[in-house]
Amino acid sequence: MGSLDLKRIVADAQRAFDNAADTVTLENEKARFLGKTGALTELLKSLGKQLDPQVRKSKGVCINIAKLQVEAALNRRRKAIADALMNQRLTSEEVDVTLPGRCSSVGSLHPVMQTWERIEQIFNSIGFDIVDGPEIETDWYNFTALNSPENHPARSMQDTFYLNKKDENGRALLLRTHTSPMQIRYAKMTKPPIKSIFPGRTYRVDSNATHSPMFNQVEGLWIDKNISFADLKGVYTDFLRKFFERKDILVRFRPSYFPFTEPSAEIDMRFECGRNAGRWLEISGSGQVHPHVLRNMNLDHQRYIGFAFGSGLERLTMLRYGVDDLRTFFESDLRFLRQFV
Ligand code: PHE
Repeated sequence: MGSLDLKRIVADAQRAFDNAADTVTLENEKARFLGKTGALTELLKSLGKQLDPQVRKSKGVCINIAKLQVEAALNRRRKAIADALMNQRLTSEEVDVTLPGRCSSVGSLHPVMQTWERIEQIFNSIGFDIVDGPEIETDWYNFTALNSPENHPARSMQDTFYLNKKDENGRALLLRTHTSPMQIRYAKMTKPPIKSIFPGRTYRVDSNATHSPMFNQVEGLWIDKNISFADLKGVYTDFLRKFFERKDILVRFRPSYFPFTEPSAEIDMRFECGRNAGRWLEISGSGQVHPHVLRNMNLDHQRYIGFAFGSGLERLTMLRYGVDDLRTFFESDLRFLRQFV
């Protein structure tokens, strides 16, 4: 074996490595030169004991130098293949950090719910509590306790959806037709003075351009010893001016009828300027709590006097934003709803 042989082996290895296109081929080529039966290993093994120690030593040195050169060539190629792989990944998995971020869209409250929150906030700021109540009521709370006995013609003012089952006392169950049953429920739970509002969903059978089978109301109840219609009018006028953010609002009480108030009145309002100016708009039912109703609240009608009102949230919303078709509130058309964001 001469130095020419070694040079040839190194050159062969270099070429073989350079031609290896991937790691698997490269590692197989490595075995051909550096493995247990590889060319260089075989050479080292052939340095038998019978050789002159001087010769043996110098040949050994030469073979080891060749081995180092082959290993260096192998490592160069390993690195080249790894770099090429990395570059390929970098271009194929490219991330454009200048792209705008993906944002999730933010929802907003339905206009009627915005009215609901506004009403709560305004009445709360003038000393009213906010109380929630059940949408499934007994016939007693919805009608009888509110002075509409069974078979009384006044019941036909509000027809509703009845449930097939009765409550544990055998009372008929129905979807409440108004928030007024909360007057009784709440008054029975607390003691006067009472200054509360009860916003909530209500249901009736009628359904047309101006009536929906489900709608929202806010009930107001004020019970104390020395209050009058003037107090109710003051509070309600103040509420309307805050709600519509306008000072040019006039309010009048027009005689009306409800079984649970006596006397009863419709509250009408009028804008002095702008849209709807000069027209009286009916905005709420109201009245002085009927003595029979006070009795059903377990209150002494000689000591206490009460005032109540019930207003429609859809109606207030329509007037505030100038919406003229009630049905748009229930159609879930985003083009309509987005206007209130
Ligand atoms: N509950 C009545 C209705 O729904 C409104 C009302 C409430 C009237 C309170 C008087 C007092 O029509």
